[in-house]
Amino acid sequence: MISMCGIIACVSKEKIPILKTILNSLKKLEYRGYDSVGVAVIDDSLFIQKEPGKIDDVAKNINVNGIFAKVAIGHTRWATHGKPTQKNAHPHSDCTNSIALVHNGIIENYLELKKELLAKGHVFQSETDTEIIAHLLEEELKETHDFFDAFKTMIKKIKGTYAIAVVSKSDPEKIFLAKKDSPLIIGVGKSQNFAASDIPAILEYTRDAIILHDGEIAVLTAESVYIERNNVPIEPKVVKVLWSPEMAQKRGYPHFMLKEIYEQPIALRNTLDIPETELLNAAQTIVDAENIIFIASGTSYHATLHAKNYLIRHLKKPIYSVIASEYDSLKSLVDDTTLLIPVSQSGETMDVIRALNDLKERKANTLAISNVYQSTVARLANHVIYTQAGPEIGVAATKTYTSQVAVLMLLSYTASFLNGSLEQSEYHKYLEKIRKIPVMVEKNILNSELQARQLAQKIKIAESSFYLARGQSIPTAMEGALKMKEIAYIHAESYPAGESKHGPIALVSENFPVFFVAPRDETEKKILGNIEEMKARGANIILVTEAGSVAIPRADTTFILPKMTLTIERAINLIIPLQLVAYYTAVERGYDPDKPRNLAKTVTVD
Ligand code: G6P
Repeated sequence: MISMCGIIACVSKEKIPILKTILNSLKKLEYRGYDSVGVAVIDDSLFIQKEPGKIDDVAKNINVNGIFAKVAIGHTRWATHGKPTQKNAHPHSDCTNSIALVHNGIIENYLELKKELLAKGHVFQSETDTEIIAHLLEEELKETHDFFDAFKTMIKKIKGTYAIAVVSKSDPEKIFLAKKDSPLIIGVGKSQNFAASDIPAILEYTRDAIILHDGEIAVLTAESVYIERNNVPIEPKVVKVLWSPEMAQKRGYPHFMLKEIYEQPIALRNTLDIPETELLNAAQTIVDAENIIFIASGTSYHATLHAKNYLIRHLKKPIYSVIASEYDSLKSLVDDTTLLIPVSQSGETMDVIRALNDLKERKANTLAISNVYQSTVARLANHVIYTQAGPEIGVAATKTYTSQVAVLMLLSYTASFLNGSLEQSEYHKYLEKIRKIPVMVEKNILNSELQARQLAQKIKIAESSFYLARGQSIPTAMEGALKMKEIAYIHAESYPAGESKHGPIALVSENFPVFFVAPRDETEKKILGNIEEMKARGANIILVTEAGSVAIPRADTTFILPKMTLTIERAINLIIPLQLVAYYTAVERGYDPDKPRNLAKTVTVD
């Protein structure tokens, strides 16, 4: 059984209604999975409660206000193998019910360890890989009475990826932590310390965080943090988190996704404000490389396509965007003249990490784009640029996507300027236009909102839809279709508009929604023919375009944006009506856009 999950742990000096804290923090981690939920509290005894379902549903069956204790752990799970049952939910315990633990990752050698433990008489409750950790600890405790010693020996025996938090009745005021490949941070509070998979989980309690690194193990008490690696103590390095707790709340919006759509102007303003030397240095790595490979998954992959398409034309060297899980096909091209650009909102997507680790071995230079400070991808790379979008909780990426596009295009223009293909005066004109993008986006959201809502009411009964575009807008069509699929569960296929007559058009009949992303660039006239082809088959034409477009009279619904000239303006603005349409269609169809079924925001399995 493989799990991909969120973990939280809290140790407090005084007894507090600790499950309130744990469940509140778990809510912030729900984006990592929401198949099942569990908590464990150490008081005089060990109390574990776990159930399949979402946090709010499970919380109804827990006496949240009635349990006062100093130590607790919690877990939210996303199952990839096996069902999300009560027994498979975390925390897991040993045979004597003295130990409880939560885990994010995969214990690769769990079958052989389980065999040994079964032979020694251990009885297992679940099918998970995680449960063997509890039994291993129980076994080690027979040899030593020191729980930390047992914990360290156990860690040496397991292979795979893990972020683990363990509590034990034998040492009831401590939390034991270990990290390898799965994210784990410590929150340092006042007479209270925390551990969590991600920063938003602790923001309400503290902004002082310690990022644990691979191979480190730690022990938390309410007033101390001890970290060691290879038996050598390490001085904890506390970093101030700049995200405020409010940034991770809904602030009156019905869903995080809508709030995050509305946060795009501020996310873009902050992201575009890259210090000049940082921008120039990163752009120089692009100029210096002989070939460039963008590596990303999902929405981040779509963001890379905008930059790839631009750079191919302007730098005149081989440039590729590869879907991270398919990186193998480009492996033979990578050497010390290559620049790898991994782009990952979370910086924890396992497909991206694996590709990066493998390709890096060929001595390539690396420049990461991530939204999470000190994320794994950020730490693996030689250079990093952070998007400044703030925490994104909605599973469907919105503000982090436009922020990625902003960074990637700004880098692309700067690299073109540095290599001489974009003149200085032009470059400065571009920068001037880029400065105005946040305000444009603000107006765009307000202007598109009502129409998106009305359109959602009409298309909510559709079973299938097309998203067509030509040239530089194809990645926008791909991203628009992905949004519709992932949250509204309407089949949505993106296709180059010119190619749609070679197959997809066979599906079109009366009222079939066809979205056209059709800016007024060199493709304006050509796409008109494709619109006519669809219209002739009775399609419901939805057009996202710019003022003055020749296609406007031919559409049933039109989102008209101001005239634009730069790829960056178009890539950021044209997607916004499509984000809103997907959001409102999901709502109209009665789905929760923040928690699409079968998806998780951060996929830490491959
Ligand atoms: C998951 C999410 C997507 C996201 C992709 C890549 O599939 O559901 O929304 O685009 O991972 O995530 P990353 O954090 O690497 O950008």
